[in-house]
Amino acid sequence: MTRIAALNDWSLGSSEEDDVGPTREALEAQATKYYNEAINYLAHGNDEQAHHHFSQVLQNPYVEKANWPEGGQHQGGGLPQDVALKYSCLKNLGNLATKRGDSEQAAKHYLEAHCTRISLRPTMGAAEGESEGCCNLLYVLLGVASVLWLVRKIAYSTQSRWFAWVMHFCTKDIFLEIEEVKKEHFASMSSIVSQDPALRGKKAIRILEIGVGTGVNFAHFPEGSHLVVVDPNPHFKSYFEENRKRFLHLEVEDFIVTTGDHMEAVKDGSVDVVVVTLVLCSLPSETIQATLKEIQRVLVPGGKFYFMEHIAEFDLKKYWWRRKLQHVLTHWIPVWPFIFDGCCLDRDTLPIIQQAGFSSVHAQKYHAPIPNIFFDPERPNLKGVATK
Ligand SMILES: C[S@@+](CC[C@H](N)C(=O)[O-])C[C@H]1O[C@@H](n2cnc3c(N)ncnc32)[C@H](O)[C@@H]1O
Repeated sequence: MTRIAALNDWSLGSSEEDDVGPTREALEAQATKYYNEAINYLAHGNDEQAHHHFSQVLQNPYVEKANWPEGGQHQGGGLPQDVALKYSCLKNLGNLATKRGDSEQAAKHYLEAHCTRISLRPTMGAAEGESEGCCNLLYVLLGVASVLWLVRKIAYSTQSRWFAWVMHFCTKDIFLEIEEVKKEHFASMSSIVSQDPALRGKKAIRILEIGVGTGVNFAHFPEGSHLVVVDPNPHFKSYFEENRKRFLHLEVEDFIVTTGDHMEAVKDGSVDVVVVTLVLCSLPSETIQATLKEIQRVLVPGGKFYFMEHIAEFDLKKYWWRRKLQHVLTHWIPVWPFIFDGCCLDRDTLPIIQQAGFSSVHAQKYHAPIPNIFFDPERPNLKGVATK
């Protein structure tokens, strides 16, 4: 016996009498009724009710199990009613999600709508064949994008790991001539009085070093200094930790993995001194100004910015060939940026610092006593102190 069940309940009943469930016609009628109501709600701007009704239609077994007739031929040529309802509900739910700004749900509904229209049909005409092609293409594109994302992530991680190792390798031996220059450069730090009363009481200062790398400047920081360090490359951390064990006169407060232009974790006016050595050469040119602004933000009033950077050759009469070499190794055959994480050999850094808004800049250009011929292009240097 066939019985028409309560139409607002899609589930098949469990009693003997309910076993047969509502007829296909009854379910179709109910689905169509709900669908029309949904369209009506949509027309009157009641998106919530429209969403509810479209969802209800999709749960209707007639629509849920929508399928193409055996043999793939449908009388009339168009979409069968159940497939059409399913397709239309999914598209409308996609539109509603787009309107809400929920792009993830929208994409899900659109994709399902698209696949519904094609995957339920066993024999396809040219249009549907094209649709399936589109759907497959979408999957292929998603797959390719995921693979590229993964390759990029692995390449970046490998490159930054490699660069940390290169820097460790290049700095593990101490060159006395360079250490002498640094000693003289950082000497004035010991006369700085901290503006933090607690540190002042301990005769200590707070130093922020940006692009700390393996931590090659620690030996030159005054006794008891509190250190905050910043580096975007997390692979330096283990070399840094190893190195700091040799400098027990320093207290490391924080190692922040970030770039110099995004130091939000460091409070305004909270450090007495900022140090950078061989960092401004590596910054993307569009972020140098922002980094110098961040340095001014975190410095206390009157705070000092110590810098030591290799720069473009400045003695062109004598060393014109080095300037050419720097240009070639940075731009024509860019091995330097490749090996040293974007390092530019021919950057003219002094005017950039001078125009950054410090109250004074005292700087000196010189040729660093670099013993290794390989690093000859880095011989022209700039060292100085800027005051906020
Ligand atoms: C050539 S290494 C110099 C390391 C160390 N200061 C020294 O003198 O040996 C450049 C350092 O700058 C870091 N760096 C690169 N881009 C940076 C950025 N946008 N902000 C801060 N540091 C950056 C690198 O991770 C690396 O530690």
